[in-house]
Amino acid sequence: MLTEETTAQALDALYAEMARLRIQGLWQLGDEIQATRPKVRAVPYVWRGEDVRRVLLRAGELVKHSEAAERRTVRLVNPGIPESHSATHTLAAAVQLLLPGEVAPTHRHTPAAVRFMLQGHGAYTTVAGERCHMRPGDLVLTPRMAWHHHGNAGDEPVIWTDGLDFPLVILLNATFWEPYRDGLQPETEPADASTLRYAGTLRPGWRRPYTSPRPMLIYRWEDTDAALRNLARLDEASPYDDVLLEYTNPLTGGHVFPALACFIQLLRPGVHTRAHRHTSSAVYHVFRGAGYSIIDGQRYDWAEGDWLALPAWAAHLHVNPGPEEAILYSISDLPALEALDLYREEAVPQ
Ligand SMILES: [Fe+2]
Ligand SMILES: [Fe+2]
Repeated sequence: MLTEETTAQALDALYAEMARLRIQGLWQLGDEIQATRPKVRAVPYVWRGEDVRRVLLRAGELVKHSEAAERRTVRLVNPGIPESHSATHTLAAAVQLLLPGEVAPTHRHTPAAVRFMLQGHGAYTTVAGERCHMRPGDLVLTPRMAWHHHGNAGDEPVIWTDGLDFPLVILLNATFWEPYRDGLQPETEPADASTLRYAGTLRPGWRRPYTSPRPMLIYRWEDTDAALRNLARLDEASPYDDVLLEYTNPLTGGHVFPALACFIQLLRPGVHTRAHRHTSSAVYHVFRGAGYSIIDGQRYDWAEGDWLALPAWAAHLHVNPGPEEAILYSISDLPALEALDLYREEAVPQ
């Protein structure tokens, strides 16, 4: 018969041996596994546009492009997960500056990237031999392992915001990065060819739907804006997002990337959405207007030029209290959650 003391001693010895052997009892993990809801360390957070721009332009003065590890980019780092260098646990958000005449050399990598153009004229990104001209409001895609470089052929600084799925790629131990051997890839395709070929709902009759390489690399702001207006005219809207559109692969109708989706939404004046939560996380950029979001009971004000991180499973709603329209661009990890059969969404009573 074991006494309480000898049992405790025996257990200590067992746990010590298990630790030495790298074996763990499920009961030792506590609620890490048997959690009734996701444990999310990322927090809601707003990065002010004026702060980001000030820092970035100062970096433009102080950090030569050649010293900036190929890209003069600042990352938006969620204070809840600073070690991740990312805005949510799956999404990296960054802001990039190119001064007139600068070129960021060609490279490629497994993380997929999207660029939403914010400011300045004359910028371009060349993706897989196709030069994509970037004007404010345009979205440019860089698929996995597509060679790409950026340039500023204009006479003013250009700024865009990058979105990447790299935290997920790192988690999956699938990160590869490669510089182009001779500086810049050749431009082998006509400029803006993919959007000239595929934008809209008509497809060249002799081309069949296919998914790789991605057929459309640029989504023009005028098309996006027109689509928002058209939907608003129908008075059709999501109760959680108001007039919401997803950028899609025009040949499949699906998300733009396997682990990254892009959205644009119009919050009409006076709109106050209902609240919901979902297992996908998002990073918003306020392209136009001002308003606020209530996330897990706390109010986050935002205005044109700001970024907002929405962690997974946080209850949220959006409000545009003013007389002007608000337009939010966002990236989301929704496709990854869907692919893994982990997407869940529920309404949250107010
Ligand atoms: Fe890149
Ligand atoms: Fe949502």
